[in-house]
Amino acid sequence: MEPKVAACPAWLAHHLQQAGGVVTFRQFMDWVLNDPDHGYYGSGKACIGPQGDFVTSPSLGSDFAALLARQLADWIGVLQARSGEAGRLSIVDVGPGEGHLAADLIVALAALIPDLGDVIELILVERNPGMMRRQQQRLACVQDIPIRWCSLEELHDAPIRGVILAHELLDALPVDRLILQQQQLWLQGVALDANGVLKQLALPLSDAQQQSIELFQQDLGVPLPPENAEDGWTSEWHVSLEPWLAQAGAALEQGVLLVIDYALEARRYYTRQRAEGTLLAYSAQQGSKDWLHTPGQQDLTAHLCIESLTAAAVRMGWTAISSCRQGEALLALGLAERLHSLQSLDPSQLATAFQRREALLRLVDPAGLGEFRWLLYGKEIEIDLFKLSEPRGCG
Ligand SMILES: C[S@@+](CC[C@H](N)C(=O)[O-])C[C@H]1O[C@@H](n2cnc3c(N)ncnc32)[C@H](O)[C@@H]1O
Repeated sequence: MEPKVAACPAWLAHHLQQAGGVVTFRQFMDWVLNDPDHGYYGSGKACIGPQGDFVTSPSLGSDFAALLARQLADWIGVLQARSGEAGRLSIVDVGPGEGHLAADLIVALAALIPDLGDVIELILVERNPGMMRRQQQRLACVQDIPIRWCSLEELHDAPIRGVILAHELLDALPVDRLILQQQQLWLQGVALDANGVLKQLALPLSDAQQQSIELFQQDLGVPLPPENAEDGWTSEWHVSLEPWLAQAGAALEQGVLLVIDYALEARRYYTRQRAEGTLLAYSAQQGSKDWLHTPGQQDLTAHLCIESLTAAAVRMGWTAISSCRQGEALLALGLAERLHSLQSLDPSQLATAFQRREALLRLVDPAGLGEFRWLLYGKEIEIDLFKLSEPRGCG
């Protein structure tokens, strides 16, 4: 595998020079996504949806939110029943992107929960001011429900009761990358050379990093690097999860956290064959491995490792409740019935029916969004009352 090189924009060259010329891949990922003026999300230029750089389930139309709302309404009902008149519950959307999910959830929840605004408030947690402005524009006319924007830290003083949603958030948190050279693991770094060109390089792992890799191998029995991996083998290492899960836990007094994201089991994640890891750059609906290219102009995203996420959640005080594939979750929530109901739409709505049919099928496509995982964690709850809906007909 050839080391990657790319042209470096002036803003990034400035950051690199200030940092001494060499940084970890994780720092690079943080800058190119979250720099407030030039980052893909930080500047607010991210374009999500079929006409944009990549699609997410909510950006395909309102059916995803309508199905998810059924699950949320169930959990809200349980929390209400447990706590009687103990005030409004909260639904927290962390990393709301362009606000598609929040906007459609409000409409769907209003149809399921009488007097919605008296029962629930919606909180949006967005790190990047550029994206926050776009969410505020999309939700400017909403009246059904109180809405506020704040950080998880701001919730620590008055933690909420309810549901935290992390829909395609955790895949955007900066990751470290491990790289195998001379049969040793190193940390992937990014440097600016004397000609102003970006290039990748290998940095030594710290003792703490080596120890956490050893612990991971002991706990899961998954060798790192995988047996017979060749030099150049690279993968992701999720060090941002634990701090984020601690923040989310401190923001929630009682309730659940639903993570929906690309995720793989450790034995499928850290394999010899997955020699370039899971990191992908997205632009104009094309996924590529060229993550160094056009910094700040394309999305970068890495799959989650299910066991690493769950172990971090448990360490941070969460209880792991259940998990399933998105296809199973949405079928259990009535996706097939929704698909069937399209047949009864008026012929004048044929174009809408086709578009919704395609979107519904994409949501459960086992080669795409249907493989996404729904991972549920709880805090201060009776977990038996908060399962994910089970597919109908499954005993
Ligand atoms: C891939 S987009 C997901 C968008 C949306 N959830 C969806 O599915 O359409 C990631 C979003 O998370 C935001 N984000 C990134 N890091 C964050 C953090 N630490 N806290 C809150 N939001 C964050 C980004 O600005 C962006 O809005």
